[in-house]
Amino acid sequence: MQSVLPPNPPLHVAIIMDGNGRWATRRGLQRSDGHRAGVEALRRVVEAAPGLGIGTLTLFAFSADNWRRPAEEVEALMWLLRAYLRAEAARLIESGARLSVIGRRDRLSAKLCREIARAERATAAGRRLHLRVAFDYSSRDAILRAAIRAAGLEPTLDAFSRLVSQAPPGDPSPCAVDLLIRTGGEKRLSDFLLWESAYAELYFTDCMWPDFDGAELAAAMADFRRRERRFGGVPAAPALAVAQ
Ligand code: IPE
Ligand code: IPE
Ligand code: MG
Repeated sequence: MQSVLPPNPPLHVAIIMDGNGRWATRRGLQRSDGHRAGVEALRRVVEAAPGLGIGTLTLFAFSADNWRRPAEEVEALMWLLRAYLRAEAARLIESGARLSVIGRRDRLSAKLCREIARAERATAAGRRLHLRVAFDYSSRDAILRAAIRAAGLEPTLDAFSRLVSQAPPGDPSPCAVDLLIRTGGEKRLSDFLLWESAYAELYFTDCMWPDFDGAELAAAMADFRRRERRFGGVPAAPALAVAQ
């Protein structure tokens, strides 16, 4: 018999892609080699996401605090984003992915900003997956900027969430995160999506980001599907046995 239940809506999954440096150091490699391997993991995950019911994927690639790292590591991360955008735009279009970069732009080079704008424009029609890359991103900064923009407007919770999430008007992607994954073994949020994760399910794994792949993502999703989300309510009533 055909089910009359609506299909599950696409989920918003966010990932703190951590562990590149340790992955590299353990192999006697440079930290930048870890970041390069991390880009491969990113590709695998973007490919696997739609098939696992994910409609929006927000990835933490560079935090506003990562400027504290040695200049050559920061430079390598900037270079990798630019290379990724240049190399990947065609593949994203082909797979129906729309790309957005969230975070600050005013501290990025003009060259990188141009590449970001080009990739966002080129992929704008993608409907299968919304890939959001957080770069020079701080959640507290995003909330502060939204509060400044909203001052005097008395916006609804939904409208304020859209400001915090840097969602352009009419953007259909949900702001609220359903599942937040952090690789690399640390159990902290490091200033990522604090507002949007109000009711997110949290999933921490010791897997270092360069080792992450579709199977690891599927395991996280299977764990998520077993969670009971109550949003402050009470557990759903068990299905009643139908009287004969
Ligand atoms: C995450 O890996 C990538 C970025 C923060 C840019 P790390 O570089 O933080 O790796 P670890 O935590 O030092 O292993
Ligand atoms: C968070 O990882 C930022 C990214 C994954 C881009 P960090 O490695 O910078 O976080 P902390 O310093 O361990 O909290
Ligand atoms: Mg780290």
